[in-house]
Amino acid sequence: MNSQESWKIGMLFSTTGVTAIIEQSQLNGTLLAIDEINARGGVRGRMIKPVSYNPGSIVSNYGEMAEKLIVDDKITALFGCYMSSSRKEVLPIVERRNALFFYPTLYEGFEYSPNVIYGGATPNQNSVPLANYLMNTFGKRIFFVGSDYIYPRESNRVMRNVLRQGGGEILGERYLGFDTTEEGFADIAREILDMKPDAIFSTVVGQMCIDFYRAYHAAGGDGRMCPIASLTTNEAEIAAIGPEAAVGHITAAPYFRTISSPANRKFLKAYKEKFGTVSDVTSCCEAAYSQMHMFAAVLEDVGEMDTERLHDALLGLTFDAPQGQIKIDPDNNHTYLQSRIARVDVNGEFVIENKLRRSVKPDPYLVYPEIHDRKFRTQKVIQTTL
Ligand code: ACM
Repeated sequence: MNSQESWKIGMLFSTTGVTAIIEQSQLNGTLLAIDEINARGGVRGRMIKPVSYNPGSIVSNYGEMAEKLIVDDKITALFGCYMSSSRKEVLPIVERRNALFFYPTLYEGFEYSPNVIYGGATPNQNSVPLANYLMNTFGKRIFFVGSDYIYPRESNRVMRNVLRQGGGEILGERYLGFDTTEEGFADIAREILDMKPDAIFSTVVGQMCIDFYRAYHAAGGDGRMCPIASLTTNEAEIAAIGPEAAVGHITAAPYFRTISSPANRKFLKAYKEKFGTVSDVTSCCEAAYSQMHMFAAVLEDVGEMDTERLHDALLGLTFDAPQGQIKIDPDNNHTYLQSRIARVDVNGEFVIENKLRRSVKPDPYLVYPEIHDRKFRTQKVIQTTL
């Protein structure tokens, strides 16, 4: 390979289909990081060149396209996926072909692969603090609604256990197929309002989440009285839902656009210069941005696309991300992340209400945390906006 040749990396983010709204934000975060790396001279003088396919939010496409990136395009570093079902398609491919796969999305936990670097939150980093917050702030009667696939079902299994540890009660648990009609969303909204829960825990994703929040509002639901709490409703979805239907609802995530810090201001300024708006900057976009920078840092050290050497160099690596400092945990390939809880205000902007004091070690198998552990009780945030 001569010194002029670029470093090829593969990207699998959907720009069409049900999760396009969030995956486009992840794609943008990755592209912004690549621009920044290339603008400072690339890695060892060579540019990073993305090869990108659009799986169209169709789960089987992710596996097929991962295979194509590795076999036809001869790429061994892949970035992508939002839905856990799509990650599960890519997993056996990267393991068989010994590629390195960066996954910038929160998920249900209970997984480890030596070929994956997990950049999103695990349940101890988002579900446990959110359960504490909901029960202390609103009450213990919670209704579950999710899209019908692995992440919502597994995430709810964890949330159910955590809530029950704290004396919570699950009033109902419903799953919506990806083909749910407007009337289907309206039925669920009416059923929830009839049950009068203290809060709703939603694991509905992508475009479905927009339809669900709007249906809840249309049926008379008000986030200021009985909020929908989620791990997957980010800034991009809130912008699409609109402030009227979004106000009062709650999300737990490591990052929100409204974080007041020099690192976040720098990130948002660069994002706006490249994409013209920051309305779709989300925690998954920020995770994708950080993962690309961490990859470039270890590639600079290692100097070759060697999966084992890159993997070893990533373990224990820290990065000053827009959310604050993060670190790849050498114990499990997941990431130490911040934990914040925010509520949508009347302008459709997340206001950060609570946070944990320090970044949280990922515990994908939920070995340690308990709802009563003070480590997972968030503190009130005073200063919140930029
Ligand atoms: C997800 O499916 N991990 C959001």
